[in-house]
Amino acid sequence: MNIIRAKNYEELSRMAATSVAAQLYEKPDSVLGFATGSTPIGTYKELIADYKRGVLDFSRATTFNLDEYYGVPVTDENSYYAFMHTNLFDHINMRSEAIHLPDGMAPDAEAQCVAYEAAIQAAGGVDLQILGIGNNGHIGFNEPGEFFPAKTNHIKLTDSTIDANSRFYASRDQVPTTALTMGIGTIMAAKKILLLISGAAKKGIMEQAVFGPVTPQVPASILQFHGNVTVLCDFE
Ligand code: F6R
Repeated sequence: MNIIRAKNYEELSRMAATSVAAQLYEKPDSVLGFATGSTPIGTYKELIADYKRGVLDFSRATTFNLDEYYGVPVTDENSYYAFMHTNLFDHINMRSEAIHLPDGMAPDAEAQCVAYEAAIQAAGGVDLQILGIGNNGHIGFNEPGEFFPAKTNHIKLTDSTIDANSRFYASRDQVPTTALTMGIGTIMAAKKILLLISGAAKKGIMEQAVFGPVTPQVPASILQFHGNVTVLCDFE
């Protein structure tokens, strides 16, 4: 794993956006894997700024997001669909038909997972996947457990993730309890992975993921087995 320590969040965001830009310069029809959460917001701002300056073109790109809450409509401001549109897609020239998130309102969650996985395959797989990491080591919504889920799946969020996500809701009992997420195998199939980790509070989990044993108790630790991962953090 290549570990880069940025001076601060601004530098981390600039570096991450530069990686996305380099990917698009090299392959304008890249398949990009995107994440939600606080960490990539600065990266998305930089990508928007690059697009507005006329140095970045998303018109041939395809995107797949890692995950979406289940049972939450796209019109809900807490849906990941809304997050991605507000923080990125509404401001760049992505074709709407090239934007993919799992459908959190699909009546059959399992069938939706199979369809999402198939759509990623049909697009040729993810060229560059942006990841964040949960306080408990999750990537996507693959929570600590007994095994690494292979494919896109319908998961139950852990109490720790529900606690972390409750900052966006008036009360904890409004936080969705299940989600559809790319599996660990789906993520590991990406050609390149960029793991963004911001804030000293994540230093402990970063060290477990990057230097500790590979275990499904720390889902991000599996990334040690991927041949092209860059970990970009903003702490020593
Ligand atoms: C989001 C996702 C999550 C987040 C993680 C970190 O699509 O898949 O794994 O990347 O929970 O979230 P933040 O960046 O808010 O700390």
